[in-house]
Amino acid sequence: MTFKDPDFPASTSRAPALAAPDTLTRFRLWFAETMKLSARLIRRIRRDGLLNTVKTLLWLLRPVVWNLYRLESLTAPPCSPGLEVRHGLVALRRLRKGHALLPDEFYHDGRTGFRECFTATLDGELAGIIWVREGRQGSRWLELGERQVEIGCLLVLPTKRNRGVARQLYWHAAANSLRAGAKDILAVIAADNVPSKRAAEAVGFRSVASIRRPALWGPRFSVCQQDLDAQNLKHS
Ligand SMILES: CC(C)(COP(=O)(O)OP(=O)(O)OC[C@H]1O[C@@H](n2cnc3c(N)ncnc32)[C@H](O)[C@@H]1OP(=O)(O)O)[C@@H](O)C(=O)NCCC(=O)NCCS
Repeated sequence: MTFKDPDFPASTSRAPALAAPDTLTRFRLWFAETMKLSARLIRRIRRDGLLNTVKTLLWLLRPVVWNLYRLESLTAPPCSPGLEVRHGLVALRRLRKGHALLPDEFYHDGRTGFRECFTATLDGELAGIIWVREGRQGSRWLELGERQVEIGCLLVLPTKRNRGVARQLYWHAAANSLRAGAKDILAVIAADNVPSKRAAEAVGFRSVASIRRPALWGPRFSVCQQDLDAQNLKHS
């Protein structure tokens, strides 16, 4: 079977595509996503108040440049005393117990594309989290291909910052993704987010392109090796 697809030569053969989901399935998926989004909004309003929630959403729409980072070579960062990183949802759920309302980053389990997380503790207390995302709908900015992951939704609690937690989280997420066979390990960081950029660069991420679009919606970009070499991105 031949088909036209910009990602494959015209003569490439492959198995017929899966049938598109029917209307009922699409409605179910849409409904499930809408319920999850509403739950997140309600949690945020309860935690931060309506005014602050609106402010945050407006802040996400600000005209900011995002840098696309790609892991070039992984370097293990020094580990602060008392810092421990755990892998997986079981650890996250255990750590969430006893905290009333944490920032959104701690509740992404079950969301489409969020494959796994790493949580950090400092002296036994919850300190931060990072997520590994995959799949076509896994990223806000990127249409992730096979063996491509985006590391993101990183947060370190304000009282635990500047002690190397973000560096360790980036390192654990990247090292584990490499072990799992990822080819491109990507991260999208706001150009004005100096601490996150420094932490990512400390473990071997390098900026390869810029994206100019708000964080909430917009085109997703596909990333391939030539694009990275040319420091360029194309619309998906
Ligand atoms: C960004 C964030 C995760 C960093 O966490 P962290 O644990 O404090 O980061 P680290 O201690 O590992 O490293 C931060 C680096 O930035 C530096 N830094 C911190 N604040 C800085 C500032 N205002 N200006 C310049 N550099 C700064 C630190 O000195 C450190 O650099 P160094 O390793 O060369 O000394 C944390 O600030 C955060 O949660 N911010 C809010 C959410 C967010 O922005 N998430 C990232 C989305 S991509």
